Amino acid sequence: MTIAILSALPEEQGDLVQALEAPERVEHASRTFWRGRLSGHDVVLALCGIGKVAAATTATSLAERFGARRMVFTGVAGGVGEGVQVGDVVVAAEYVQHDMDASPIFPRWEVPGYGGPRMDCDAHLTAILMRAASAYLERVGGQFDQYLPAPHAPRLHQGLIASGDQFVSTAGASQRLRGDLLAAGHNVLAVEMEGAAVLQVCRDYGLPFAAVRTISDRADDSAHVDFPRFVEQVARRYADGVVRELLALL
Ligand code: ADE
Repeated sequence: MTIAILSALPEEQGDLVQALEAPERVEHASRTFWRGRLSGHDVVLALCGIGKVAAATTATSLAERFGARRMVFTGVAGGVGEGVQVGDVVVAAEYVQHDMDASPIFPRWEVPGYGGPRMDCDAHLTAILMRAASAYLERVGGQFDQYLPAPHAPRLHQGLIASGDQFVSTAGASQRLRGDLLAAGHNVLAVEMEGAAVLQVCRDYGLPFAAVRTISDRADDSAHVDFPRFVEQVARRYADGVVRELLALL
């Protein structure tokens, strides 16, 4: 049963391509895919690039062309929830598209045809991903302290993530986004640009989906400064570690 491991940027994929057994590179739909074996599983690794449309076309290719039967997204996100700090990890329980607004015809944030603003990730796969992320964080402890603005034992969170075609890079934008959603009862922990789109495709195809995001910035005025250094130094290793823990548990 082929598992797709999807990320937006090369750093978010870690060194998983190098670790593949029997690697096969396939160019398809303007993307590079790598098929192979990893920890005893058939996997396909894909980079989708940034944004919801790029993520959706890649996820569709994974389902249609590569026979993916489960999808896992690994990447980074801006922390917007209380106590969600740089270096923490958020596993998605649900997603909302923060830039979807077909009001007044449909309620704000509702993706028409999907029955509400929030979509659930697969509960079983998500539970295993939580165990994998927890095991990884326990193993690395304070190893990345030097790259964290406020060194602390990285925490694992599970909850709602918001996706949209926007890099959130001011405190004002971040507070607005979180505040508007919170006022409607949606407590967002983190913001990124792809996950909800992949989840929507997985829902269309009836495929289990789970996502793990390392917090690279606080989606505030210093987000653009924190981001490049963090993805290179830390997110790369988190991605590698969490995905390997996950595959060992599947
Ligand atoms: N991914 C990582 N940080 C982000 C941010 N601040 N906004 C959107 N996507 C992100």
